Amino acid sequence: MSAFRSDITNGVAVITFDLPGSPVNTISTSVATEFGAVLDEAERNPSVRAMVLISGKRDSFVAGADIEQFGRLTSQAEAEAMSRQAQAMMDRVEGLLKPIVAAIHGACLGGGYELALACDWRVATDHDKTQIGLPEIQLGIIPGAGGTQRLPRLIGVRAALDLILAGKSERASKALRLGMVDELVPPSTLRATAIHAAQRLADRGASERRPGGGIAGALLDRTPIGRRIVYSRARQTVLKKTGGHYPAPLAALEVVQAGLEHGMPSGMREEHRRFGELAVGDVSRKLVQIFFATTALKKDDGVEGAAPADLPPVRRLGVIGAGFMGAAIAGTAALNARVEVRLKDAELERVGRGIKSAIRVLDDRFKRRRLSKPEHARLSQLVSGGTDWSGFRRADLIIEAVFEDLDVKRAVLAEVEQETSGHTVFASNTSTIPIADIAGESSRPEQVIGMHFFSPVEKMPLLEVIPHAGTSDESVVRAVRFGRRMGKTVIVVRDSPGFWVNRILLPYMNEAGVLLAEGVPVDLIDGVITRYGFPVGPVTLLDEVGLDVASKAGAVMHQHFGARLEPAPVLQRMLDDGRQGRKNRRGFYRYENGDKKGVDETVYKALGVQPLDDAAPTMVEQRLIYAMLNEAAMAAGEGVVRSARDGDIGAVFGIGFPPFRGGPLRQIDDLGPARVVEVLHGLEIAHGERFKPAAHLVEMAERGESFY
Ligand code: 3HC
Repeated sequence: MSAFRSDITNGVAVITFDLPGSPVNTISTSVATEFGAVLDEAERNPSVRAMVLISGKRDSFVAGADIEQFGRLTSQAEAEAMSRQAQAMMDRVEGLLKPIVAAIHGACLGGGYELALACDWRVATDHDKTQIGLPEIQLGIIPGAGGTQRLPRLIGVRAALDLILAGKSERASKALRLGMVDELVPPSTLRATAIHAAQRLADRGASERRPGGGIAGALLDRTPIGRRIVYSRARQTVLKKTGGHYPAPLAALEVVQAGLEHGMPSGMREEHRRFGELAVGDVSRKLVQIFFATTALKKDDGVEGAAPADLPPVRRLGVIGAGFMGAAIAGTAALNARVEVRLKDAELERVGRGIKSAIRVLDDRFKRRRLSKPEHARLSQLVSGGTDWSGFRRADLIIEAVFEDLDVKRAVLAEVEQETSGHTVFASNTSTIPIADIAGESSRPEQVIGMHFFSPVEKMPLLEVIPHAGTSDESVVRAVRFGRRMGKTVIVVRDSPGFWVNRILLPYMNEAGVLLAEGVPVDLIDGVITRYGFPVGPVTLLDEVGLDVASKAGAVMHQHFGARLEPAPVLQRMLDDGRQGRKNRRGFYRYENGDKKGVDETVYKALGVQPLDDAAPTMVEQRLIYAMLNEAAMAAGEGVVRSARDGDIGAVFGIGFPPFRGGPLRQIDDLGPARVVEVLHGLEIAHGERFKPAAHLVEMAERGESFY
């Protein structure tokens, strides 16, 4: 079956790209060949004066090169050839003797946008689904079909680098403002407008584009000296952001530079050379695996076998507890799931504050122009609240975010069961209390579940959904699907202490505490971990989470897991000294006007230690990381996560485990379970039984198994 069909309207060949059997259009070798033949034919046909390229898919234009192909690449030369072929396809489009217009609705990403860039004119729909950009960096590669060359020439080097180096995609309105597309229309007129534009181009040819950017544009984008400043600044930003772990952004910068300073052919050569190098590199392999894991999770409802049929979506959400978490859950639900949300708390004043802070989530989007004024007004009206149960009876899902105390949560659940109808699912946003305990006295235990959100809810991409043994499949599917509508990547985890994310985090945080108690300096601990690739180190995290909260969570874990997770005494010493972390501006670090400053040197006195000046960074890193790897292996062996994929996604999205390492389980596979066991044995001898290798890991090593 063919991926393209062509029909001629008033002298314009409208070429519809509709890849058979695929949810989105992607570009592969066979597509490129077929497209070439379609173009040849349109060019030869005397009744065709111009062309329009449009998608036959409902909500996407072209999603880029076929990422599946990357996994099959076996050599750099092969990857390079792939990029060369994609470049040739775009060159062919650019070199057409007849004008061609891209009609864009939905995702226009990577190779898809590079295709649009090679066209003479770009019309896009002003629709939520339309997103345009070059996300290749997020896959550890660079645009490999001429994007590094055409985009800076179209919109200026500063704007192009801003997009390419971050792998950003933009909504249609911003894309128009930047000059990435030329016209914006509603979906209903896309085709007609594109045909009209094609006819206009055939009649009058293309008009000169005026370069934008004002004086800054003239000085910085269009002079060699100005550009040198731009490259140098971009380089600094990249180095700071990637810590040298991700090679693609620097490569992209160098390729853009090569093209602008030495001409397009030179830029194209560099582009396919660097693309080839990166596409078979380890970082790209890991990031591509994460892409496919995330995509697979979008379709995974979290139950064995098929999800129960005809499950109506959640239309109304109730949130109990209008504090920090509850309000953020309410705001994020209104923003992304666009459902009515009713907030409840004991006092009217708290409800009022909760609604305000829920709406702040929407305000923030509005300020960043991700939400229009009418949308903002409409979504704000979805959030309401009160002190009684009105509005809760019709709720399909109720999330409680009250005080972290079993009796309080049980009492809330009992009341909910009295006040609501039989179909309502009750989800607890607990981070430490077993869901089975909360459901212990429930009259509808099959409708009780855990939904563990991470703070700040509106930003953190992960959600853990936790069924207890008696939760029904329907409730699981409800919670998972709703979490997804809230914009989260959802993993379903077993009801055991700490669930997955806090379980693997805690031994690592604890080890940081032990290191602090030994006198290892705060900045050394955080430094080795950020160099390893985490966004923040464990001591900073303690300050952020709050020492009181961390200490409570630590106690719960200690109770369940015993001596292995005995809390280091430092947290208590900090609390005794009145230090709760950022929240009271007294922690391991100094805080001034809301900003984190350097280490608070007085903290060592509070800890009762002399900071060491000879602590070995490699040993510090090993102790912290192996504490996490060991716990991850142990929990995975117990079946806390359903698959290694879920475990790694949870670690990457929940705690910022370095994506280029793929996740803790992938990391164990890379190191080899036998090697990990060996290192843990060494640590056990040197530092105690808490490093005893997990039985599961030892078995894996003996059997020569791996997680993947
Ligand atoms: N290659 C292969 N498969 C792709 C794909 C791609 N570029 N983009 C999407 N898909 C597949 C997904 O794997 C999924 O497949 P499945 O149904 O068999 O599991 C299906 O399309 C639907 O995708 P989603 O579930 O993600 O659907 P959404 O509607 O949520 O999102 C999307 C659609 C925004 C297009 C999202 O899939 C996406 O971001 N895709 C990746 C875009 C991208 O990174 N493009 C750059 C590719 S690299 C490149 O172009 C190199 C070039 O410079 C040479």
